[in-house]
Amino acid sequence: RKIAVFASGSGSNFQALIDVVQSGQLDAEISLLVCDQPGAYAIERARAAKIPSFVFTAKDYPSKEHYEEEILTQLQTHGVEFIVLAGYMRLIGSKLLAEFKGRIVNIHPSLLPAFPGKDAVGQALAAKVKWSGVTIHFVDEGMDTGPIIIQERVRLDESETRESLQQKIQQREHKLYPSVLQMLLTQGDVVNDTKARTH
Ligand code: GRF
Repeated sequence: RKIAVFASGSGSNFQALIDVVQSGQLDAEISLLVCDQPGAYAIERARAAKIPSFVFTAKDYPSKEHYEEEILTQLQTHGVEFIVLAGYMRLIGSKLLAEFKGRIVNIHPSLLPAFPGKDAVGQALAAKVKWSGVTIHFVDEGMDTGPIIIQERVRLDESETRESLQQKIQQREHKLYPSVLQMLLTQGDVVNDTKARTH
């Protein structure tokens, strides 16, 4: 199956997916990187892996509808069937959602519904919780609100810092995303059932 990865930043999750595709552990082809930050390191990773990228600046377009129209064209040109958000810092608009509903997933560094939105790691530290974690979920129109596919807990130590928690969570993400995607992409029924249910 052909997938597109959407990223805005360093793209360490994107890299983890590149690696498992190359090693044969994920039965997919990453056909396109979509990135809204021209300076993002994710773009270098795409280049190194010879993956085409579509890079845009939202401000260059009159509205979300306009840039998503362009994204949609790019997705269709590359035959993309499934969208993987990996640190993409924008809400998906109605047009893209309608076209790909049930076929867009996101990874978030907390146990949703706790700590949605930006800086989930900082929010967890500020709340002094003992456990946080990782959530992979289908994407809907809300911010980190779609149906949850899987969650894994990460324990916060007494001495936990932003850096240490970030690192623990990311290590977990880099293992979890490939395995969940392998399940979703190879069990066609799962994708189709979910699509039917969320419509
Ligand atoms: C990850 O922690 C992910 O959960 C969140 O954004 C971060 C992206 O990191 N949505 P990276 O760009 O993959 O390194």
